[in-house]
Amino acid sequence: MTVPEGLLSEGSGMFVSQPVGTVTGALNVPGDKSISHRALLLSAVAVGNSSIRGFLNSDDCLATLAALRATGVEINSKGSDVHVCGVGAGGLRPPPAPLDLGNSGTAVRLLAGVLSAQSFDSILTGDESLRRRPMERVAVPLRQMGASIQTQEDAAPLAIQGGRPLKGIDYTLPVASAQLKSALLLAGLWADGRTIVRSPGPSRDHTERMLATMGVVVEQSTNHVVSLCGPAQLEARDLEIPGDLSSAAFFVVAGLLGAPDGLLIRNVGINPTRTGLLTILQEMGGRIELRNIRDFGAEPVADLMVIQSDLAGIEVDPAHVPLAIDEFPALFIAAARARGRTVVSGAEELRHKESDRLSVMAEGLRTLGVAVEESADGLSIEGGGLSGGRVDSYGDHRVAMAFAIAGMDASGPIEILRTAEVSTSFPGFLSIAAGCGLEIEAGPNEVHPEYG
Ligand code: S3P
Repeated sequence: MTVPEGLLSEGSGMFVSQPVGTVTGALNVPGDKSISHRALLLSAVAVGNSSIRGFLNSDDCLATLAALRATGVEINSKGSDVHVCGVGAGGLRPPPAPLDLGNSGTAVRLLAGVLSAQSFDSILTGDESLRRRPMERVAVPLRQMGASIQTQEDAAPLAIQGGRPLKGIDYTLPVASAQLKSALLLAGLWADGRTIVRSPGPSRDHTERMLATMGVVVEQSTNHVVSLCGPAQLEARDLEIPGDLSSAAFFVVAGLLGAPDGLLIRNVGINPTRTGLLTILQEMGGRIELRNIRDFGAEPVADLMVIQSDLAGIEVDPAHVPLAIDEFPALFIAAARARGRTVVSGAEELRHKESDRLSVMAEGLRTLGVAVEESADGLSIEGGGLSGGRVDSYGDHRVAMAFAIAGMDASGPIEILRTAEVSTSFPGFLSIAAGCGLEIEAGPNEVHPEYG
């Protein structure tokens, strides 16, 4: 279905999720968002043509695709198959207009790394949510490398002045962030000398894996230090993208809440820097089996068999937090249903995502009758179950999907407001949900926000 222009504007869309109780069957989730962005970016500046299979056609990844086309890269796509004609390290061209990255923090930060190293100027901007997110954290180290970047009081638009030679630096990130680490490594491809990025903890390593696949020597040590030597040239490769664990997360929780016969989620990426949610849920008593573990290019994948479980609240080990960073909205729903209290701490970064996920989730859960205490860096959730009601996702895709899943197990229907952004990461969410027995519909008097 094609959505007329303007319909996907922030604030539109509504879901109504019915308390169906159970789910069953088997499903596939679309391609991984983080890996899809990286596949486009790295193929674009490689020498030669790359084909990408399993690309995620979501708004966020399509924003990266459009930005690369605007910088002169020929990209052809058919469904989830994408063909990228790499332009090589010196082949990007000045974009004719500011690049609008929509809702995507990954797109803007990774592109900031690439575009800082080019000979031309560029401007990176995005939607209202993106323009509230912190950008000095990426601009500061890029400036140390020699780049010229202005932010608007820490936010986008970013104005990048090209033509600055970059040099490698040894930089310690203030937070464990794959976006920041990746931006510096990408800039490092054009920099003179070694770029060393030290992180206070683990973060997803898809960039490192893909760079290595494309012929760049990436050195990694324990203690979260990664480096590469520039200038370096990428070689085109055929890339395959696994299903997104962050999308599977909603169905993992659905299965634990109500799949007595099991719910099978096929072909899901299980990179160990991403599997924190599975570990936490297993510690809560969740029955999640990883079957048919295999490699998909540089990334491990598995089929997840999830069986309804009696979940118990726990104190979540803060060490798991960076490995589950995008999955907390889904986890908080599981916690609201578990026996006893679940306490999450060390998760201050959740305040800097597409919404302030600690306060937005706390507000929604309270609306549904759950006792929640909010701290600076986490939530304490008293489990036991949810009532029906109307919650606001504040235009955050993962919050919207989390409450949509919660509806299956509530004592009445849950209405979720501002759901249009679900298409930034998970086109097809409603039809996949319907396929396993969930009843989540676009609400009355609202336009169906899904077009995948
Ligand atoms: C991402 C990294 C994470 C994550 C985001 C995607 C990436 O952000 O929250 O959704 O693709 O690199 P941070 O690296 O800023 O924590």
